[in-house]
Amino acid sequence: MIGDNLSIENVTFESLANEFGTPCYVYSKEMLINEFLEYEKAFESYPKTTICYSVKANSNLSVLNIFNSLGSGFDIVSEGELERIKKVGADPKKVVFSGVAKSDNEIIKALEFGILFFNVESFDELRAIDRVSGQLGVRARISIRVNPDIDPKTHPYISTGLKTSKFGIAIEDSFEAYVEASRMKNIEVVGIDAHIGSQIFDLKPFEDSLERLENLFYQLKDLKINIEFVDIGGGLGIKYKDSDTPPTKQEFASRIIKIMRKIDCNLVLEPGRSLVGNAGFLVTKALYKKTSNEKNFLIVDAGMNDLLRPSLYGAFHKVSRSVKSSGSMESYDIVGPICETGDVIAHDVNLNEVNLGENLVIHSAGAYGSVMSSNYNSRPRVPEVLVSGTKSSLIRKKELIVQLFQNEVILQDE
Ligand code: LLP
Repeated sequence: MIGDNLSIENVTFESLANEFGTPCYVYSKEMLINEFLEYEKAFESYPKTTICYSVKANSNLSVLNIFNSLGSGFDIVSEGELERIKKVGADPKKVVFSGVAKSDNEIIKALEFGILFFNVESFDELRAIDRVSGQLGVRARISIRVNPDIDPKTHPYISTGLKTSKFGIAIEDSFEAYVEASRMKNIEVVGIDAHIGSQIFDLKPFEDSLERLENLFYQLKDLKINIEFVDIGGGLGIKYKDSDTPPTKQEFASRIIKIMRKIDCNLVLEPGRSLVGNAGFLVTKALYKKTSNEKNFLIVDAGMNDLLRPSLYGAFHKVSRSVKSSGSMESYDIVGPICETGDVIAHDVNLNEVNLGENLVIHSAGAYGSVMSSNYNSRPRVPEVLVSGTKSSLIRKKELIVQLFQNEVILQDE
């Protein structure tokens, strides 16, 4: 707080709204750095650890540049993400390529860049990587993404390590995949990988998953398939509600390290949300109020096209007033301007009365916020701003209306 004004580092949200307009995403550089350093510190006692920030959580070039300059590696899932990390000068030897459907073109681009390894998600994909590497005359380094059939006890849309999910190769089939991979001419087996889901609070599923990987590690060792890397994916949860109590990075690390000491090989982490989630905010303006069906609606200028998480997952984001007030307490359903009933930012939010034109701050919007935004209802994507101390810098310009249809063509009647 600066006086009655909510602030991010030493800049008030009011001044950000005035300078950059609303809606706009803002990130704290200090928080981004601290989250990374906390991870590093937590895993300090296991020096064979590489943190590969999961680019999908927030792929803004300035954010990537901050992590790159701190020595982070990257977990990528597309050619677009590959080009982004190249742009900030990432070290190829700290890059892992995940995702269920890498195209030939993506495999070629990643091989040319010389990434650390591919996380392979199916037998078909393994064969595709072997074929493409052969054509290029190189050997691809791979790890098999194992589906350990673990329930991470999180939202079903972000649970990925269950038997019923499309991700990875079932743990019981993975042994066969390794045997096949080890016989391929253009494949070098280097790792084992699992990612069980996202926004996980319970550390037990991480342990259970890693223990399954550990067993597989020993089985492979017996077959003389030597694993150099164990990649445990991302997924550590963050605090959205005041009552949330996610495990600390230290607690997470100590449980993982205990098992890794037995395996004693390189560890790769792919955190996304836990590095960027709490460092980001979405600033929005109250446009209108109305009461209908006993609901008190506060209509703001940010919608589900700007922040999809509440609509898609029923996700909770805390909302605050940007300036403190002592007005009467009201309960609002905060909704956006999109023509969808599901365009809700938050239900039943208790705030001191909000007047039209006032700014609100949506918290914990740094992960899967801007990256999941769309142009639905032909709304331009909103700007992104990085705050450091008293300085605020535009790191993504507001999209222009003309950019919305610059790739479209009006067919003329002939
Ligand atoms: N590694 C892999 C292979 C992943 O699929 C993901 C996230 C991560 C790492 C990073 O996970 P994190 O540390 O951020 O939990 N849009 C959803 C989250 C989708 C997560 C997708 N995969 C949301 O807004 O909650």
